[in-house]
Amino acid sequence: MSIKQLKDINKNYISQTFEATVLMSDIKVKASKNGKRYADVIIQDSSKAMEVKYWDYEENEEFINSLSPENAINIKAVVGEYQGQIQITIKQIEKANMDNVNIGDLIPTSNWGIDSMKNGLDFFYEKVKSSHMKKLIDRMIFSNDYFKKFSTHPAARQVHHNFYHGLLQHTLEVLKFGYTVATTKKLSERQIERLIVMTMLHDWAKIIEYKALPSVGFTEEGTMLGHIFLGAHTTLNVINEIEDFDQDDKLIILNGILSHHGHLEFGSPVLPKTVEAQILHQADKMSGDIESIMSFMADQENEEDTFTTKLWNMGTDYYKKGIN
Ligand SMILES: [Fe+2]
Ligand SMILES: [Fe+2]
Repeated sequence: MSIKQLKDINKNYISQTFEATVLMSDIKVKASKNGKRYADVIIQDSSKAMEVKYWDYEENEEFINSLSPENAINIKAVVGEYQGQIQITIKQIEKANMDNVNIGDLIPTSNWGIDSMKNGLDFFYEKVKSSHMKKLIDRMIFSNDYFKKFSTHPAARQVHHNFYHGLLQHTLEVLKFGYTVATTKKLSERQIERLIVMTMLHDWAKIIEYKALPSVGFTEEGTMLGHIFLGAHTTLNVINEIEDFDQDDKLIILNGILSHHGHLEFGSPVLPKTVEAQILHQADKMSGDIESIMSFMADQENEEDTFTTKLWNMGTDYYKKGIN
């Protein structure tokens, strides 16, 4: 066995050197205790994104700063271990010859398939019958200004849905989970329409909050304002352009967007004040949690241990026997 993709790396390869072509999507320069600067670098290929160490940053500063995120690089790196976790250290970096590299092959992508995701979105769009709510969705999701971003952006920097089409896949998951609850509990048609609209828009502003792949990380607007405010703000602006937008629908949809993190300490400025908003919050949490567990387990699939390491957002490790 050899390391062909980043996901192949596991503890069996400790102290081995490997070569790979990857994208360098983020770099954070830090200082060690003795004052020497080094870099934590996020590298990725289609299988995985991971943070690695580059101790020789200072000596190669000019060259590293000349690399753009769209530039593939060839690395030579060594697999090590630090505090029980795998730690990769880059030994050598050179620019890859872009004639031999297809950038799309180096970006992790949703495995749902874009056509079936578009069909899924249409299914829920058809359920929205009220013309004012339809107009809101038309302008924010399906317009030329936004659809490309909405359908390609990631939904997270790390943890869940941090891949090409991630926001669209996450939004569809939340739509499916929420719709199942809403129809099981026999919510009214109007409630279901509002639930669909607030769900489509709940993380919409991640198209502003996050940089477009292959870059990763927050934009300045995202860091300063966050997707909850940006989403509610943009939605309110668009609602104000739509004539005769129903006042209750406006308040309920905005409350749903603002409260979708469910708790004040998780960044929502208000709590869910309707059944729809509570369903959205719980469906959102389910989508994020389950995806983070599944992708975490998949990342550690090739390691021999019975349990994964601890997944910080869930506060526990996971039992790997019997996955397949
Ligand atoms: Fe969110
Ligand atoms: Fe979400």
